[in-house]
Amino acid sequence: MNSVNLYKNYRDDLENLVFGVHALGMKKTMIVFGGEGVKWVLATVGVGFFLGMILLGPTYDVTTRKRNPAMLSNQLPDCSNDFFREFIKKHHRYPNDIQWNANYTDFSPLSCHIRLQNIKQCLKRKQIQKIALYGASQVHRYGLQLAETFKRAGFDCKKTKEERRKPIHRIDRDYFAAGNKSLRSKMMIGSEYVCSGCSSYQIVCKSNDFNGDVVHIEFISTENVNTTTLILKNTTVPPTYEHFIFDVYLGKSFPDLNVFFLPMNHIKRHPVERFVREFPATLLPLVKRVKPPKAEFFFIPGTSEFEESRSAKSRDYKNKLWYGLLATDAIRKLNSVLFSFLESDIMNLNSKISSFLDLTEVTASLGHLCKDGSHFDNQWYYTFWKVFLNVYCHED
Ligand SMILES: *[C@@H]1O[C@H](CO)[C@@H](O)[C@H](O)[C@H]1NC(C)=O
Ligand SMILES: *[C@@H]1O[C@H](CO)[C@@H](O)[C@H](O)[C@H]1NC(C)=O
Ligand SMILES: *[C@@H]1O[C@H](CO)[C@@H](O)[C@H](O)[C@H]1NC(C)=O
Ligand SMILES: *[C@@H]1O[C@H](CO)[C@@H](O)[C@H](O)[C@H]1NC(C)=O
Repeated sequence: MNSVNLYKNYRDDLENLVFGVHALGMKKTMIVFGGEGVKWVLATVGVGFFLGMILLGPTYDVTTRKRNPAMLSNQLPDCSNDFFREFIKKHHRYPNDIQWNANYTDFSPLSCHIRLQNIKQCLKRKQIQKIALYGASQVHRYGLQLAETFKRAGFDCKKTKEERRKPIHRIDRDYFAAGNKSLRSKMMIGSEYVCSGCSSYQIVCKSNDFNGDVVHIEFISTENVNTTTLILKNTTVPPTYEHFIFDVYLGKSFPDLNVFFLPMNHIKRHPVERFVREFPATLLPLVKRVKPPKAEFFFIPGTSEFEESRSAKSRDYKNKLWYGLLATDAIRKLNSVLFSFLESDIMNLNSKISSFLDLTEVTASLGHLCKDGSHFDNQWYYTFWKVFLNVYCHED
């Protein structure tokens, strides 16, 4: 786009000129992000600055204006699964260059425009009755904020079941036996959790309008990709927890939407080579085998950690190196390995296997929302769903 066209688009719209002036203050940030879509931003900054100076002069108080990237983003393509796939085809990565709004309640890739979706209609259209979330303590929180999201979209949500771990690091076999005595008698514990704040739970959300649609959410605690937290003896099912979950526990009522948040905060405690060896040999083929063709499966990368936010309890981890890397660098590396294993499935429309933006990049500026070095205020988990669902629900 040349500057004449930009001028034509904007000459009648004073707000855009105002944004242009303000955008000058953001120029540095924009340049740092780089990547697709930055060209027009910089062009607009230039034109906006030029016109702003002529028409508004130096008396305009820039500081009272809030930045509003939405004003310009109408010219961008919508952020959708299609757009993501096209982007990946070209760049071999997700559009990870993002921008946050002023109070960190919303973000958007720089190269596409997030369009608001109706969540209730989306769940109905996609026939989603059961959602499973997998991961560790972060996902305990993602799950509660997903329910919060549904509440605000017109559902009444109630927690109906939760693991009662005794002791807290040992899986609750009764929860997973769900009353099946023969199954319960076969259960064995092979290893204990590290995580104490990640008991599995179920939440039922009922639409509060007349048709009363119901969506079941289950958080299934998972600390790595090939563990023995619970295994079955005397069966033909291979002895891992993940086989138990996918082959037996979810079995015939496989969730329509599955979001597996790779617990990189835990996985980084082991050499990257272990993940490189295990993920493509265990979890990924298992999921591909058990997943009904229509069920959708997302593998979500890990978030950043913050050395300066480590609490007294996690003081020992401050600036700790994990096989030579600081926590966030280790997680970023794991995220990129994850993407490389998934790229061909993401590009295959029939696989219904996807991933999402590299969350170490997305959360890199959320240090102020992080209390203990790795977990965030609810605001992050809520915002994740807002953006994720607006992309997921976009009709391609
Ligand atoms: C953040 O800003 C948006 C508008 O930019 C506003 O709607 C929202 O209420 C604000 N949120 C908080 C937590 O301040
Ligand atoms: C109980 O578990 C066994 C596996 O041990 C399974 O074969 C059986 O179908 C289950 N029963 C019910 C009612 O789900
Ligand atoms: C294993 O299961 C078979 C049939 O399900 C049963 O006959 C046998 O006694 C079981 N063995 C053990 C060691 O539990
Ligand atoms: C996965 O875990 C099982 C059980 O501990 C183990 O026997 C197997 O070797 C592991 N697979 C890989 C690829 O490491």
